[in-house]
Amino acid sequence: MSNNNNPKTSITTPKIGGWDTDVLILGSGVAGLTTAIKLAKAFPNKKIIVATKDQKDESNTKYAQGGVAVVWDKFDSFESHIQDTLRAGDHENDEKIVRMVVEKAPQSLQELIDWGADFDFKDPLNYDLGKEGGHSAHRILHHKDITGFEIQKTLLEKVTQLSNIEVLPHHFAIDIITQHHTEKRKLNFGDADITCFGAYIMNEKTQEIDTYRAKVTLIATGGAGQVYASTTNPVIATGDGIAMAYRAKALVSDMQYQQFHPTALYEPGKSPAFLITEAVRGFGAYLRNKEGVRFMLQVDERAELASRDIVARAINMEMNRSGAECVYLDCTHLDAKGFIKHFPNIVEKCSSIGIDFTKDFIPVVPAMHYLMGGIVIDKEGQTSIKNLYANGESTRSGLHGANRLASNSLLEALVFGHQIAQHIIENTSILESKLPAIPAWNTEGTTDPKELVLITHNKKSVQYIMSDLVGIVRSNERLIRALDHLDYIYQDTEKLYKKVTLSPQIVELRNLNTIAYLIVKQSMEMKQNKGAFYSLDL
Ligand code: FAD
Ligand code: SIN
Repeated sequence: MSNNNNPKTSITTPKIGGWDTDVLILGSGVAGLTTAIKLAKAFPNKKIIVATKDQKDESNTKYAQGGVAVVWDKFDSFESHIQDTLRAGDHENDEKIVRMVVEKAPQSLQELIDWGADFDFKDPLNYDLGKEGGHSAHRILHHKDITGFEIQKTLLEKVTQLSNIEVLPHHFAIDIITQHHTEKRKLNFGDADITCFGAYIMNEKTQEIDTYRAKVTLIATGGAGQVYASTTNPVIATGDGIAMAYRAKALVSDMQYQQFHPTALYEPGKSPAFLITEAVRGFGAYLRNKEGVRFMLQVDERAELASRDIVARAINMEMNRSGAECVYLDCTHLDAKGFIKHFPNIVEKCSSIGIDFTKDFIPVVPAMHYLMGGIVIDKEGQTSIKNLYANGESTRSGLHGANRLASNSLLEALVFGHQIAQHIIENTSILESKLPAIPAWNTEGTTDPKELVLITHNKKSVQYIMSDLVGIVRSNERLIRALDHLDYIYQDTEKLYKKVTLSPQIVELRNLNTIAYLIVKQSMEMKQNKGAFYSLDL
């Protein structure tokens, strides 16, 4: 499978106009908005555009439930959070990055609180710190079971107070701009001088693809849960930023590591799957198989609170053994009043489908939840491409290793938002760099698609190939089969892409196919099982 960059740009058709900005941020989740706020405060005279493909609050961030991990309690320690993160990551993490993120966490959380985020207290002086799998202490700051919603709201409110940030909803980034477009140069992975000059962005209302020139560009487009048929991620999570970066020849790694959340609500045919937060197990819920046995007791000394890779694999094995379609969360022994106070959203969802948690077990299954791999960044959030930064779930920062510790993701985005801003503050010349003339996006020779069914069929095919062949348990034979099928879809999608007027659907399909290809290829390179990666042949 080749990874040619967009064939539709032409240097012979320069665009008059377009938009210039100092900083261009792609994505309005926690990673994009935190970085935008930090930069806007540091550089009140510089213009920051945040382009985001859906409504401005639609993101994985908005659905986060459990909370944010941070050492806050006087009986907890940085060393303990560091060791938990390394153990969950099967020691594939970059320990320097782990230390940096854990040690900077309290400062980043305090900043978020100062911006208005409201976390739950257990008494007037102390936060109610939750516990989740893999953590050896109570250290999760949360807002009921809708922490992400609270963070997304706080950040968007803060953004409205900063006049130098402009948020553009329904603006879909297609590709980042490099010398591939300005000089028609063939770029290779590892070229030291690849430079980013902004991005081509589709205004979804007008369908125009515009040129946004920027001195600094940030990819904060989140994860790629939608590459699987069953996922907790909303429909925006199609790995666009990772695919764009890869096409531009940025380094992308660790794509073989997907985190399957152990406890998505079992509702056949429902997508995205509703999450039952791990904090429910932290609150004392048990996992039981269809015979009612607490099977995790035989698997790990931490039982239900082992790290996610271990619990998800154990559930998968249990379902294979018994032929059952799900396992169960048992909350019937828990303090009902306390449960309702902590998890009102989950209680409401369960009762809406006839489940009374005080009497009934909640049926759950693992679902794709989080991508550990992504665009390689250093401790300042710089990618391998000049003037291109990345933050959040689209990155491989080294924090998570082979399996992310629960509630370390929102934290990563908060700390790296700080790191990126600090790096630009210390290197302000980046904001003075000259930008070249950039050719307009060329739509010549394309026509509107006659029917969308070819696109939706290919998207579903990618999702089922990945769920059936590249799930929690992999094998050489399954990976080879997946690659064969994906290759056919790739050829078909490329033909369509060159022929039809671009739409978010065709671009997302192309990006999902790239993500699937990277997951399979990087899985094939694995020499041993690590963290969330498990092959029957190793
Ligand atoms: P997102 O929040 O996904 O934001 C990505 C943004 O990019 C969106 O605005 C999207 O519309 C935009 N975008 C995407 N593609 C394009 C494009 N082509 N052009 C323009 N814009 C684009 N983590 C925790 O730490 N604690 C938790 O409790 C927790 N709970 C979770 C519960 C659920 C159900 C889910 C799905 C995830 C949870 N996570 C949790 C993970 C965490 O929410 C995410 O990893 C994190 O929010 C990612 O933030 P982000 O800013 O990188 O991406
Ligand atoms: C959850 O609340 O279980 C999700 C937490 C996370 O993904 O970190």
